[in-house]
Amino acid sequence: MTIRSKINKEILFAKKIYFFFEFSSTTGNCKKSLLALRICTKLPPNSLISMSTSIQKIAILTSGGDAPGMNACIRALVRTGIYYGFEMWGVTRGYDGLIKGDFKKMDLRSVSNIINRGGTILKSARSEEFRTEAGMEKAYQQLKERGINALVVVGGDGSFKGAYHFSNKYDVAVMGLPGTIDNDLYGTDFTIGYDTATNTVVDAIDKIRDTADAHNRLFFIEVMGRDAGYIALNAGIAAGCEDILIPETKTNIDDLVVSLKKGRANRKTSGMVIVAEGDEEGGAYEVARKVKEQFDGYEMKVTILGHIQRGGSPSCFDRVLASRLGVAAIEGLKDGMSKVMAGIINNKVVYTPLTQAAKLHSDMDDDLYRISKILSI
Ligand code: F6P
Repeated sequence: MTIRSKINKEILFAKKIYFFFEFSSTTGNCKKSLLALRICTKLPPNSLISMSTSIQKIAILTSGGDAPGMNACIRALVRTGIYYGFEMWGVTRGYDGLIKGDFKKMDLRSVSNIINRGGTILKSARSEEFRTEAGMEKAYQQLKERGINALVVVGGDGSFKGAYHFSNKYDVAVMGLPGTIDNDLYGTDFTIGYDTATNTVVDAIDKIRDTADAHNRLFFIEVMGRDAGYIALNAGIAAGCEDILIPETKTNIDDLVVSLKKGRANRKTSGMVIVAEGDEEGGAYEVARKVKEQFDGYEMKVTILGHIQRGGSPSCFDRVLASRLGVAAIEGLKDGMSKVMAGIINNKVVYTPLTQAAKLHSDMDDDLYRISKILSI
């Protein structure tokens, strides 16, 4: 390809992106979003719309790891669905419940007093059976028996892959909503639960700092995020950690030791290193072990924060995000969308094909990583 045609291709791509954001800016613009989506993604005309001519009943399920704000999202889905005249159904325990026919009809009051609660009133699960043809067929029969032809899946990338295959095979419209603390989905700036989880981590590290300081200790704190480092990077900056180890950047134990030694020489008397669970040097225990081999400037301790990060009352940010996305999901389905995830980019609702949301992780913010290095000297 010549340089000229390469540049032309890039200009064309930039125009498409501009067009996409211009036209997919609000939930009131679902039809325009759909058109923009089709043009930008070059997908065939019916690949992002529901094959069902008219949706009357919508089922909701939460899938994968639960995330704070899922309840606020269920509330928004149920209330918006009823507002627009749909019959709303909840499915218990994700795709497993779909296969087993574990449905309950939802009304306005079945979602009262849940906006402030962590977890999910619909329960969640990771289903092996739904990955099989037979499992999907059973799930479809359950929906068909009840006349339900639309499904909202609140979850992460694994849940979206399942939803996409299901919707390709059967006449069921599918809408995804990003519900995971990991913040690792493409097509939204933030996932539901990420803000609360990050605040939980900051709160925990603040407490660890008190005891670290009292004993002149160095702590290695492991946080969740699967193979993404968003929680570690943001919480690490907010909690003033000495070093942040994430899967998106190459971790070098020798460099870590050098910077810890420098800090000690600069009169630091305690410290905190945050380790994302997906970092390639292993978990916090492994990193601590490797550092100990080269440096004895501190007594070292390890804390694995674990599932505390998934629980708790959702933050204001997560409640608002979940509420906006719940409304966007129903309005998208109402306007004939399917196989897309509703997300928020630059404070505007955007619909992204499920295949892209699940496959392309969002980019890590290099600048955040850069400033973390400056501020921890
Ligand atoms: O995807 C959310 C998440 O909490 C990840 O951060 C973590 O790796 C995983 O789920 C833990 O899953 P489980 O609760 O099944 O152990």
